[in-house]
Amino acid sequence: MKSDLYPKYVNPLLNRPDRPLPEEVAIIGAGTIGPDIGYYIKSALPGIRLVLVDIDEKQLQSAEKTIQGYVKKAIDKKKMKPDYAESVGANIVYTTDYSEIKNAELVIEAATENLEIKKKILAQIEAQVGENTIITSNTSSIPAARIFAEAKHPARTSITHFFAPAWRNPAVEVVTWEKSERSIVDYLTWMFCSTGKVPIVTLDRICFVLDRIFDNWCNDAALLLDEAIAPQVDQVAQEFVFAGPFFVLNLARGNPIIVETNTLQMEEGEHYLPANILRSVDSWVTLRPGEKLEIDSQKAEMIRDRLLGVLFSQSFDIINRGIGTLEDLNLGCQIALGFRKGPFDIIRDLGETKTENIISGFQKERPGMPGMESDYDSYQNFKRHVLVDEMDGVKIITIRRPQVMNALNDEVNMEILEVLKENESDPDVKGFVITGYGDRAFSAGADIGKFPEMLGDAGASVQYSRDCSLLLRHLDQFDKPVVAALNGLALGGGFELAIRCHKLVAAEQAWFQFPEVTLGILPGIGGLVVPYRRWPNSAKLFHDMIRQGSRMTAKEALDLGIVSALAGDYLELIEMAVREVKEMAGKPLPRIPDEPVEITALEPLEKPKAGKLTLSKEVVDIINKAIEEAAAKPSFEEALEVGYKAFGEVACTEGAKEGISAFMENRTPEFNK
Ligand code: COA
Repeated sequence: MKSDLYPKYVNPLLNRPDRPLPEEVAIIGAGTIGPDIGYYIKSALPGIRLVLVDIDEKQLQSAEKTIQGYVKKAIDKKKMKPDYAESVGANIVYTTDYSEIKNAELVIEAATENLEIKKKILAQIEAQVGENTIITSNTSSIPAARIFAEAKHPARTSITHFFAPAWRNPAVEVVTWEKSERSIVDYLTWMFCSTGKVPIVTLDRICFVLDRIFDNWCNDAALLLDEAIAPQVDQVAQEFVFAGPFFVLNLARGNPIIVETNTLQMEEGEHYLPANILRSVDSWVTLRPGEKLEIDSQKAEMIRDRLLGVLFSQSFDIINRGIGTLEDLNLGCQIALGFRKGPFDIIRDLGETKTENIISGFQKERPGMPGMESDYDSYQNFKRHVLVDEMDGVKIITIRRPQVMNALNDEVNMEILEVLKENESDPDVKGFVITGYGDRAFSAGADIGKFPEMLGDAGASVQYSRDCSLLLRHLDQFDKPVVAALNGLALGGGFELAIRCHKLVAAEQAWFQFPEVTLGILPGIGGLVVPYRRWPNSAKLFHDMIRQGSRMTAKEALDLGIVSALAGDYLELIEMAVREVKEMAGKPLPRIPDEPVEITALEPLEKPKAGKLTLSKEVVDIINKAIEEAAAKPSFEEALEVGYKAFGEVACTEGAKEGISAFMENRTPEFNK
């Protein structure tokens, strides 16, 4: 992806920030979203001073209650340790006095969606803060050029658009506009990404990227009410989203917002006229969670085509006009708006003819609405799950699946493989770094969501292991250096990918684990084989990792020579990895030994445990046997086969059934019921 929206790096953590993380942040507006943004930022940076300003004392009191409620819930749910939670809740000033914000390094205005109010607040902010303070507005629709038209120092301004609930929803749009300095946009995206968010850069157009989707989706749902009722629309919509438009509008009390934002979009054409009914209805009668209606298939199809029509129309328009990128729009719809798949995934599933039929039918019904301006394939020409950057002649591949901690599936593996292949014979590319998005996870392993369908089917499970191994087998034989930059936890399949790279470097806080045994399965794509062949002296430790799920810290891995260096922060890590690649380039690369390996004996585990969790003995026995068998195999390839087969075997055990179900149901497994 090379887009004007990302002139240098797509992975925001590759940009060197021109200032540190803030120590003091102010938020103007203590309504719904203000306290939620405040709680997000305090939970990520508990040491900061947060100032929450509002003109209404009552609003401030209620904001304080909200934030303290979140803190309490986090402790109760064991999401935060009490000490940590205490600092999250502390050092927050709730005030009507603007002079309290004078030392803030970042001020986020999160007041009412009203241009005049926003401009007035901006003047009040600028009257208090220094020239270097970054000022942003949390608007879902009003362009920066209007809000900041009279700003004294527009270069330090931007839009930062959060999504509800802002403390948990990872998406945030950051708007680049003609007067904002690029370093401000880069800093904001870096800061958000460093604090657990997924920033998406957009052009300064009415409703930016994601609200063009959401608002028009809701508006067209409301227009459909001439022909269908709200619960029918919601039910059909649920094929594509977790909650239908009317359910969401009720939650957000969103009808007036759609009227307002669609009225604003009418500057682009009469076809954005808001549905009249949105002005007169306060709340919709729609489906209760879990409720199902009988809808005749013709009506369902009419609703489906109309909803997909508006979704596709807006998606094409955003891409046609360069307001956002394909990858950001596709991901943003999922993480910010609760779509089950991105619009371009749905378009891919439907194929060219069906997509064209839907969009042309929609344009007939809704004259003026945008459609495709390029051929179908050009809207599919992007990588969904990896970002690709270049630093010093080295390709940086960043796994970006924030919703599942960068878990791997066939598509991610294939995309990484494609990047390797696309650049294999390019003499200007010295090699590759593989890393994870954000600073928590390199990858939380194979996507467990895929497992239930394989349980009980040995053949499918063996095939799955082989398929997942395509990338890894390519790495084994690859002629250009690949370094894994372990920016955070690397679990299961994530660690299996890392250990197939020619070298590993890690962030100091990273840790590694094979948690499969706690799921009643085993690491079947090299995990039972590669560690022993590469680092035979650490066999005892690998036994514990694989059979009991014990963790290895980055420091331990360094001491054992598994990772070659540690870094204090993300950029340092990547730069270190780039140096490693350059050092290896053009030289013979380290290969995983083919020969059998003698390993420390696997002492039997009568009652295998991982911490307090009692494991399945049947599963651990399969693991023991496979490790021994694989170590003795005369070739690496044969040893890998042992791993694939053992995965097939384990997938048919009661342990696997229980372990995977427990993960999916978010409960502790009971292996010995
Ligand atoms: N596959 C699919 N989804 C995964 C995943 C994986 N390997 N690892 C994490 N996720 C998802 C979680 O289900 C959760 O989704 P939700 O928000 O829809 O509930 C989200 O990522 C965040 O994870 P969560 O568990 O809430 O975060 P945490 O900080 O409490 O714990 C982990 C982080 C990584 C320790 C925990 O998610 C975990 O144990 N994951 C499974 C790791 C594993 O067993 N990997 C090997 C697979 S073979």
